[in-house]
Amino acid sequence: MKDAHPTAIYLKEYREPDYWIPRTRLEFDLQDEVTTVTSTLTIERNKNAPEGAPLVLAGQALELVSLALNGQALAADQYRVDVESLTVFNVGQRNTLVCVTRIKPRENTSLEGLYRSRSMYCTQCEAEGFRKMTYYLDRPDVMSEFVTKITADKQQCPVLLSNGNLIDQGELANDRHYAVWHDPFKKPCYLFALVAGDLACVEDTFTTLSGRDVALRIFVEEKDLDKCDHALAALKNAMRWDEQVFGREYDLDVFMIVAVDDFNMGAMENKGLNIFNTSCVLAKPETTTDASFQRVEGVVAHEYFHNWSGNRVTCRDWFQLSLKEGFTVFRDQEFSAAMGSRTVKRVEDVTLLRTMQFAEDAGPMAHPVQPASFIEIANFYTLTIYEKGAEIVRMIHALLGPELFRRGADLYFARHDGKAVTIEDFVAAMAEVSGRDFSQFMRWYRQAGTPEVRVTGEYDSDHKTYRLTFQQSCRPTPEADTKLPYHIPIAMGLLGEAGSLPLRLRDRDDGTATHLVLEITEPSQTFVFTGLEEPPVPSLLRGFSAPVKLDYAYSRDDLMRLMSLDEDGFSRWDAAQKLATAVIHEVMAALASEPAPAVDERLIEALRALLNNERLDPAMVALMLRLPSEAYLAELATVIDVDSIHHARNRVERKIAQRLRDDFLAVYQKCDIDTEFRVDAQSVARRSLKNTALHYLMVNAKSQDVGLCRRQLTHAQNMTDELSALTAIVHCAKPSLADVRREVIDDFYRKWRHETLVMNSWFSVQASSPAPGTLESVRALTRHQAFDMMNPNKVRALISAFAMRNHINFHHKNGEGYQFLAQQVIRLNATNPQIAARLLTPLTKWRRYDETRQSLMKAQLQQIKAQEELSKDVYEVVTKALDNE
Ligand code: TRP
Ligand code: ZN
Repeated sequence: MKDAHPTAIYLKEYREPDYWIPRTRLEFDLQDEVTTVTSTLTIERNKNAPEGAPLVLAGQALELVSLALNGQALAADQYRVDVESLTVFNVGQRNTLVCVTRIKPRENTSLEGLYRSRSMYCTQCEAEGFRKMTYYLDRPDVMSEFVTKITADKQQCPVLLSNGNLIDQGELANDRHYAVWHDPFKKPCYLFALVAGDLACVEDTFTTLSGRDVALRIFVEEKDLDKCDHALAALKNAMRWDEQVFGREYDLDVFMIVAVDDFNMGAMENKGLNIFNTSCVLAKPETTTDASFQRVEGVVAHEYFHNWSGNRVTCRDWFQLSLKEGFTVFRDQEFSAAMGSRTVKRVEDVTLLRTMQFAEDAGPMAHPVQPASFIEIANFYTLTIYEKGAEIVRMIHALLGPELFRRGADLYFARHDGKAVTIEDFVAAMAEVSGRDFSQFMRWYRQAGTPEVRVTGEYDSDHKTYRLTFQQSCRPTPEADTKLPYHIPIAMGLLGEAGSLPLRLRDRDDGTATHLVLEITEPSQTFVFTGLEEPPVPSLLRGFSAPVKLDYAYSRDDLMRLMSLDEDGFSRWDAAQKLATAVIHEVMAALASEPAPAVDERLIEALRALLNNERLDPAMVALMLRLPSEAYLAELATVIDVDSIHHARNRVERKIAQRLRDDFLAVYQKCDIDTEFRVDAQSVARRSLKNTALHYLMVNAKSQDVGLCRRQLTHAQNMTDELSALTAIVHCAKPSLADVRREVIDDFYRKWRHETLVMNSWFSVQASSPAPGTLESVRALTRHQAFDMMNPNKVRALISAFAMRNHINFHHKNGEGYQFLAQQVIRLNATNPQIAARLLTPLTKWRRYDETRQSLMKAQLQQIKAQEELSKDVYEVVTKALDNE
């Protein structure tokens, strides 16, 4: 291990730094193999720091060339260099430190700090990558004004970018040139960025609310110039939306986006110079699916919104990560909802949360949204920080209502502009404008785990009353065995046979509303509704008003009533999911019996009614037709039975496909109209329903259906249709289709091998095939010329897709899937620890499986743990997964 025992750092040990760095001047001299970084730092002692406190700067894998304090080169006894720091003794009140280091971007495969992606240089500094370029106070509460000079070869790097405004540029000898950038806004070093390379640019302007013109530029490789329109339109929409909804204007004269192929995450909000994974910025109809178009829109908005929620007001320390991420995800979710269908967006977000975040919260890496400790912060860019964090902000929004929430946000931005603050500061602003007490609510940030809410209803026909009782609890998670009760907003209504009933709460006057938010604060609480002439079906947790697991013993008839009559679109979808889940569970329980268990007719008839209801949004119909995923069904289980989930779900799907074949065909034909390609909500909805119908037609795959699917594959004018058809064929298990499968895979490769993002989909489709032998193909594909272990998108497309979206193959009882994953984790540990640690996630869930699988998974974790040079990233995940054994 690099570090014998990496140790945890604790929120409760936070202290202000002993020194500040009001100014930072950086010079990057980019040469072929080596880059020389000269930093000139204005360093001031914190008035609260003890006299004589040494200056301790963070640094990693740096070659120190020279060091001078206040113009004097430092002698060996005036400083000390350790593996991860530089200590300077005898530092005065106000100092200038000049430090020269050398780094090798070409050899940097971790994709943190300065690295090469194809022919360009770029940086990734969040969270702690800045220290891989020069010694610095690499912590977000140290905010500095940056001036950056970049020098490079003119031919290789005609474009030289950094944060802020260009203040100088010029030619140098030997075909070199330079550019100097100044960022007038103080920022922590994690928001620093530098890009140098041969880039083409798409340009536009945006006029802000107050009439300032902002230049917008998207930099890409020349070949991708035709894929920037969508991101540019999304950016302008996001800028306008943030002005209108949050009153936030952009603050520099230029806003730049750069697309790079090798990137650990989606994108990065560096001040004025966002750096994007190409997968989150490039889009055109021929190569990009609707889902990816929407992802581009969402990520462009997310990074742009960080300019206020993250950059102008930043985090005091990394325990506050959700301060910027939870809030910004909430903002981008609301933006996407406004750009497309609000209900569809909500269903997608809740599905992600309930499937992936709930699983995280039930596993060994479970942590509070404001963690109390961590070993490696890179491991905490999690679904909990992002998605659950956004749900908490959404609950605050629901409790306050939009006007007060806006006033709270205004107060937060005004009060903390230019500062590094905490989650408590955010909530305090919300408390202040509303006069509400958020002290109990803060437990959402401080306790890990998903609360469970058990609800029972009792109708009294004599008194025409209905008693709803809520009981909350939360299972132990690594940081705490017992949990204090949460403050849970439950949006609800009551449905009679004909629809919504007026809600009259006993002891309150309100009488005609059909929608209400109940606030649960106690372990057990009862509400009594009066004046009800019939026993109601409760509609609970409308819009998913709180990130909890709600349990109410609905009958299937109750669910059908909710599906057709509830006034909340999310709840109608959720009722459909619950109905399908109940039917799948019933089949699971009876799988072993002969004859094959029946599939409840009510589900089939309910889906038939959906298919034939012309008044519904086709996107919602498509979502309601889709059965809950294997991952979601696994999340619901106490002990995950991989095989019976797979087989029961398939059986239900086959039955639906058989019984509704004509309906699917009719819907397919109705939706299969040739119009000009657009990505508006309506067109996306139509393609979504069409391809859902195609999916069902291909479940039983009669030759006629295969013909139709191949026709779609050959004639598709857009990647949504093309990839849906490809997936339907590749995932079809029929032995008679083996040749066709091979042929379409090869054809697709030949057609798209020059489009690396399309190749990612090609890998994923194959890796997620439920067919036997998939592990063998995945192994072979790791040696394919289009695969690249150094490129995170490729690793995700092939290896993560196999381990996370192919339960039946990954969890095969021979344990080969686990062994394969462990081998890949060990390989990546040496080159890219962040990606290695993420890839490891599926193995950490070992406790949820049967005994055989548990021991197979554990053996692989132990194998990884026994490796000699474990990164902090992998070390933390593997030791926590093995419960520090
Ligand atoms: N702050 C980025 C976001 O918008 C996350 C991010 C990008 C990141 N690149 C990273 C986090 C590398 C850790 C490491 O969500
Ligand atoms: Zn973010």
